[in-house]
Amino acid sequence: VRHLMIAGNWKMHGLQRQVQALTTAIKEGVTSYTEIEVVLFPAFVHLNQVQALLTQTAVKVGAQNLYPAPQGAFTGEVSGPMLVDIGCQYVLVGHSERRMLFQEDLALVAAKCQAAVAVGLQPILCVGETKAQRERGETEAIIAEQIRTIIECVGVAALQQAVIAYEPVWAIGTGLTATPEQAQAVHAFIRHLVAQNNLDIAKAIRILYGGSMKADHAAPLLAMPDIDGGLVGGASLDADHFLAICARAHQQQSEYS
Ligand code: 13P
Repeated sequence: VRHLMIAGNWKMHGLQRQVQALTTAIKEGVTSYTEIEVVLFPAFVHLNQVQALLTQTAVKVGAQNLYPAPQGAFTGEVSGPMLVDIGCQYVLVGHSERRMLFQEDLALVAAKCQAAVAVGLQPILCVGETKAQRERGETEAIIAEQIRTIIECVGVAALQQAVIAYEPVWAIGTGLTATPEQAQAVHAFIRHLVAQNNLDIAKAIRILYGGSMKADHAAPLLAMPDIDGGLVGGASLDADHFLAICARAHQQQSEYS
């Protein structure tokens, strides 16, 4: 049984006071959702603060990005060893906002994935197609290229400690969610791609859905056989909304167990 994960990507939001309140509310609210894994992704500058608030809880912390080199003259960047050192377990890699706004190409995303795995961080590899690509019928080709580059450059074994997030670009921050059937079809395709390289890893790897996930429609998404949780943006900035999604995941996990 794969354990459902609900991850909150706070992106570039929040000042210390809000981060304090949000983290505290989430930490207190999730204590009854013992069946699932909850991970928060604050901005770099808030990682220590969030980490300190979460000690002795089951909630984990991850970073939104890393630089591939372990150290050096890379002004403004943050390395994998630095993240491990302050207690991060996860790191987002290849988020579409970084692929598009900061021109992160397939090779850079693979290098980041490799750097994460090398220091024991668990990468959450984000993949997804744009609206135009979907309309041209290129969804599977785009996803396959994004996944295959990782397998070719980093090796399929790296996926043993990774999570994949399917985030259709047209669903991010738009209020448009993929239907459970649309998402399931892509998730099954991703699992099939991994299975072509390693069946055991394909069965074990968690594939999250991301893109305008909200509490009121999370349940049917989470009930799909190849959807193993959610990577939540906007709704993770509101403790009640985020906790309501965690509740749905907890309920779904109880049905599996
Ligand atoms: P929204 O939930 O705001 O659409 O963001 C999704 C996302 O990009 C998570 O990484």
